[in-house]
Amino acid sequence: MTNECFIFTFSYSTNHISPTKKDKLIKLLLDVDTGIDDALALFYLAHAQQKGQIEILGSSTVGGNVEVGQTTQNTLKIWEMLELDIPVASGAEKPLMVPLNTAPFVHGDDGLGNTFLPAPEKKPSEESATEMILRLSRKYSGELTLLTTAPLTNIAVALLQDPGLAKRIRKVVIMGGAVFTGNVSAVAEANIANDPEAARIVFRSGMEMTLVGLDVTHEVYWEEEDLRALVKIANERSGFLLQIIDFISSAYESLSGWKRCVLHDPLAAGVCLFPDLVKTEKRYVDVELTGELTRGMTVVDRRGRTPLGEENMLVALEVDAERFKTQLMESLLAWARVG
Ligand code: BDR
Ligand code: CA
Repeated sequence: MTNECFIFTFSYSTNHISPTKKDKLIKLLLDVDTGIDDALALFYLAHAQQKGQIEILGSSTVGGNVEVGQTTQNTLKIWEMLELDIPVASGAEKPLMVPLNTAPFVHGDDGLGNTFLPAPEKKPSEESATEMILRLSRKYSGELTLLTTAPLTNIAVALLQDPGLAKRIRKVVIMGGAVFTGNVSAVAEANIANDPEAARIVFRSGMEMTLVGLDVTHEVYWEEEDLRALVKIANERSGFLLQIIDFISSAYESLSGWKRCVLHDPLAAGVCLFPDLVKTEKRYVDVELTGELTRGMTVVDRRGRTPLGEENMLVALEVDAERFKTQLMESLLAWARVG
């Protein structure tokens, strides 16, 4: 398969939506480490924007699945493939206190399943991730939904610079953590484990938060039979999507013995639009920083009384997996069919 050209015959922009309707759209800011499942989340959100459900105002990037230079390139490239002119602001190269731990085995050396796409035409924004987050939070005070699908370094840095950010954000949906399980360790999830100090700053900030962790994201996955409609399209676009899905599915197979594409970041994107995709509990959650076996664990206090502290976020514990899988597949099919 060549990756030379992706031809577009319709646009995913919001230009066709009337100004009054536009005012009522969910205004979204993303912080990503694109990454295969981050990329799938961008496809989903682009489709939601095209349907007039959201307005994507900006995206910031951070080092995570791969180095920040690559997550920035990947984010620009995916927006370009979707013909969307969304600013991409580059952020933290590494976590606050420790070196960066990338995951090329899971996402590929290029973060996109070793598809090695040609470089995007657009450049990143002049402003940094932190500058973008703070600027948009002031411009749209009380209106912004922030979706994070990456280590929380950029958000923590923004909060350290301006703690008032917490009150200007309408809510944050965080792909991260878990109540009962882990992936990079027995009890820790990658996005939180990659920068636990940043996660603690965010968790203690007073923001409205929803935690979409592994307890629910592990329930939402594609296996081979879920991909038939995409396979049938058999063009360059479906080929690209199937290539990245196969890469991450094979990585999961090597790690767990089960070939499947787990839809972590797309589900968090889905929860921004449809909070009722998940059942939640309001709980006190903090991050373990020092445990020899437990660093990066999200500690969720589920006792009736919470002596550890006030409930600070909604934690997702159940998910309507079929409803979300259908929505996500529809968004991929809509894009692939045009190719
Ligand atoms: C999370 O870690 C990253 O590898 C994925 O992109 C996702 O955000 C899952 O633990
Ligand atoms: Ca991610």
